[in-house]
Amino acid sequence: MRVAVLPGDGIGPEVIGAAVAALRELAPELELVHGDVGLECHSRRGEYLPDETMELVKGSDAVLFGAVSTPLSAEGYRSPILTMRRELDLYANLRPVRNLAPGLGLLDLDVIIVRENTEGMYTGDESVDEEGVTLSRRVSRRACERICRFARDIGESSGRGRLTCVHKANVLRRSDGLFRDVFYETVRGSALRCDEMLVDAAAAELVVRPDALDVIVTLNLYGDILSDEAAALAGGLGTAPSANIGDRHALFEPVHGSAPDIAGRDLANPSAALLSAAMMLDHLRMPEPAAALRSAVSGTVADGGRTRDLGGELGTEEFASLVVSRLRS
Ligand code: NAD
Ligand code: IPM
Ligand code: MN
Repeated sequence: MRVAVLPGDGIGPEVIGAAVAALRELAPELELVHGDVGLECHSRRGEYLPDETMELVKGSDAVLFGAVSTPLSAEGYRSPILTMRRELDLYANLRPVRNLAPGLGLLDLDVIIVRENTEGMYTGDESVDEEGVTLSRRVSRRACERICRFARDIGESSGRGRLTCVHKANVLRRSDGLFRDVFYETVRGSALRCDEMLVDAAAAELVVRPDALDVIVTLNLYGDILSDEAAALAGGLGTAPSANIGDRHALFEPVHGSAPDIAGRDLANPSAALLSAAMMLDHLRMPEPAAALRSAVSGTVADGGRTRDLGGELGTEEFASLVVSRLRS
């Protein structure tokens, strides 16, 4: 099986380097093919997402992506990750958030955020006039149906108890109202306890009653914001993985960005990238190596192996070597 590896910018290459080392140890049969993407790629070859990379991605069984930096000003720029989500029709963004080890993070959390990944506020359809800018926000029945179905299936297959639809239908009455209606149609008859919460209240609930939330299904931008919040509460952005899933393709990436403030200094926590690689192994129907990787990461942290963001002293490479040694033993 072939995996397209796109490290990208900033800490992307550092954390993906750790994930590649773990994959070489765990699954040497995987063919890992590197591809170019992002701001650095643009400065070298004038493109943020070369056709060659898109072909590699389309011809692979999965994609492992680091992060890219956004240029400060570039007319008509669209983030390569958004282009890939759209072009590969990766409609479901799956973001499980939980503490890497007991006692780590501001509070205990175990939630799965299922984020609509193709439309909502992310249409990029902005029209400018003399007075300002108007964004055309899209909520389609089809996108609502498939993301709600995906969330219901994830909730049921992972033995969860509650599925909460997070929206802002009190204000966005037609668009978020459609999402809410489709949610209740889709989950009819499910054994899950299905309910709803307004997004502002859900942001507070995550902090005040984190136990109450279990699986969340939500629109694109709300999912983006809630997943950074949840990750920060549970231990930090360096620990949160994600999967972008479609019917034909799948891309795995940490929730965090390219972190230019710490890039190139061996300071990044590679856990989010390692756990994204574990989600990829599961997707490739390799559950044993996936479980081994998860337990090597959490075991390393539980034994006190910590990068600076978690209050420790380890560099990215030292942490990654500890994980790889655990995989060997
Ligand atoms: P960020 O997620 O890169 O960083 C936010 C904060 O978290 C920073 O202080 C950073 O040092 C810290 N952090 C992030 N990952 C960490 C890790 N693995 N270990 C330790 N600390 C970590 O978000 P930002 O600063 O808002 O964005 C930086 C750049 O990344 C921007 O250009 C943004 O557009 C881009 N971005 C890209 C993606 C992506 O490509 N998927 C995602 C988010 C942001
Ligand atoms: C994420 C990121 C992206 C998003 C950016 C980089 C376009 O923040 O994956 O969470 O907003 O989806
Ligand atoms: Mn984000």
